[in-house]
Amino acid sequence: MERLQKVIANSGYTSRRKAEELIKNGYVYVNGKLITELGTKVNSNDEIMVEGVNLNKISKKEYYMLNKPRGYICSLDDEKGRNIVTELIDTKERIYPVGRLDYDTTGLLILTNDGNLANILMHPSNDITKTYIAKLEGILTMEEYFRLKDGIVIDGVKCVPKKVKIRKKTLETNTCMVEISIVEGRNHIIKKLFASVNHSVIKLKRESFAFLSVKNLKSKEYRELTREEVKKLYALKK
Ligand code: URA
Repeated sequence: MERLQKVIANSGYTSRRKAEELIKNGYVYVNGKLITELGTKVNSNDEIMVEGVNLNKISKKEYYMLNKPRGYICSLDDEKGRNIVTELIDTKERIYPVGRLDYDTTGLLILTNDGNLANILMHPSNDITKTYIAKLEGILTMEEYFRLKDGIVIDGVKCVPKKVKIRKKTLETNTCMVEISIVEGRNHIIKKLFASVNHSVIKLKRESFAFLSVKNLKSKEYRELTREEVKKLYALKK
């Protein structure tokens, strides 16, 4: 038995917060009965209708890997009318991004309608490594490099990168390229890490997520994950 709002969110229909609003506002029926109580528990045999959509019928699971371009937001809708990443994927299913890349960040983004896998991939306890390439304003000094390697407290919680490597220094433009791998997924975490050592990020790309790499995809290109890859992602759960 699971809480109704969690089951609705895991189906990929909408976020947990929006599911709670839909329940409270009288848009959700379980086995034909109107439910407005948030704590209600349901099981897999229950028929759940949300805004007239039968959730039991939207269960075909889809998994994609996208090379996200700049200028797209990782959300299901945007009140400012900006482009959203799900527009780039040709599907009738309600897929959503696993975690967020900033509007101006490019690179590997997983999208799925499988809430169970999304939860595994986003849960910090599963220690999933994400590798980014950042172009920085200014050249990272050795002192700053070691401060990053030792870990930096961001919003009260220490973030210790798994790897920091200076890939290139360009003295003419006073910029450098740094590879950085982290296991956590807090919003803007990479920009905050570099800001703590007084460098702003000019460009940011996520090159890999666990064993997946975006190298063979051009900007805006995507592909479905293979069954093997999905199985390997599930196996990351600790
Ligand atoms: N960290 C950031 O600062 N931005 C991203 O898009 C991802 C990680």
